[in-house]
Amino acid sequence: MLNFSQPCISEDTIAAMAQTMRSGWIASGPRVLEFEAALSQTFGGRPTRTLTSATGAMELALLACGIGPGDEVITSTQSFFSTMNMIVKVGAHPVFVDCELVTRAIDLDQVEAAITPRTKAIVPTHFPGALGDMDALYALARRHGLRVIEDAALVQGSEWQGRPVGSFGDIATFSFHPNKNMTTIEGGAIVVPDEATARRIEVLRFHGIERLPDDTRDVAVASGKYNMSDVSAAIGLAQLAQLPGFLAHRRRLAERYFEVFPQIGNAVLPPSGVEGQSWNMFCVLLPYEGLGSTRQAFRAALRERGIATGLSYEPSHSTSLGRSLGYRRGQFPNAERIGDETVTLPLHCGMEVADVDRICEAIRDII
Ligand SMILES: Cc1ncc(COP(=O)(O)O)c(C=O)c1O
Repeated sequence: MLNFSQPCISEDTIAAMAQTMRSGWIASGPRVLEFEAALSQTFGGRPTRTLTSATGAMELALLACGIGPGDEVITSTQSFFSTMNMIVKVGAHPVFVDCELVTRAIDLDQVEAAITPRTKAIVPTHFPGALGDMDALYALARRHGLRVIEDAALVQGSEWQGRPVGSFGDIATFSFHPNKNMTTIEGGAIVVPDEATARRIEVLRFHGIERLPDDTRDVAVASGKYNMSDVSAAIGLAQLAQLPGFLAHRRRLAERYFEVFPQIGNAVLPPSGVEGQSWNMFCVLLPYEGLGSTRQAFRAALRERGIATGLSYEPSHSTSLGRSLGYRRGQFPNAERIGDETVTLPLHCGMEVADVDRICEAIRDII
């Protein structure tokens, strides 16, 4: 069975993990500091902190921006559920807008039209293959005095005009879940504009605890626990050293998909040919109805041929939570078409180019 996603764990990574396990310090400690320094270098030296997930990173990013009850956050309905969930969890209202069909980038005209006096931030989600127009996004945010929190969970290693995501802009959040470009098992990171915000994140990620000058502790804000362990950080350091190789391998697989994917009328493939992009997943939209079938049947037929697939993503506004916030189907046609037709095909560093050939052959056969 070919998994649609799978981590790539080298013997070096296992050795680094075992060494930390034996070191006498396995919770947050020296490896976390080392990992944060190494990550920060990849983000142009910007302040970077690790957390237990990108979901936690999004929650703390919103809190660090002072976003809470009564505030509105404009975001694309095409994202993983965590984006919506964290906006709702901090007490704010998610104002959904549509995305572009091919790049899945947030629709900036709709963002501009959705701004009200209550709007505090824009949360765009980046997808593999192409980013939206980051210059236009930041110009829009500046014009209206809005914060930007980039959900970059899927795109560690992607660039905008030669600069890595996270190395510019306001706040960016990353995921190290096993199906991302590199992993710490569970884990995430946040890149922020200044050290004061980074210190705020440190407080928020560990119970809201602040150290007082007399070495006692105080809590002013009730917060949870989101600190990464040294064992995860040791895995992260080893994975980060391999990241360029992982990204290159993923790019080769994506290029092969573009070369051999069967011609199917109305199919929508990811954006191709944009320089400096990372490839966490390869999602295609297929016209099942026109083919006299359904997505469920198509996925089952691939599964019968030993090929697992995923769904990325059902639009947030059409979930029960989204509907309870007043949204309804029909509002965001691109995200809804993506939600209806998308299939995530296998793409990970455990695959070879021949696996892509086999997948495309299976698709041709099923069609
Ligand atoms: C776009 C996006 N944002 C956030 C997340 C959440 O990441 P994590 O599992 O690290 O919380 C994911 C996970 O798939 C994602 O795809």
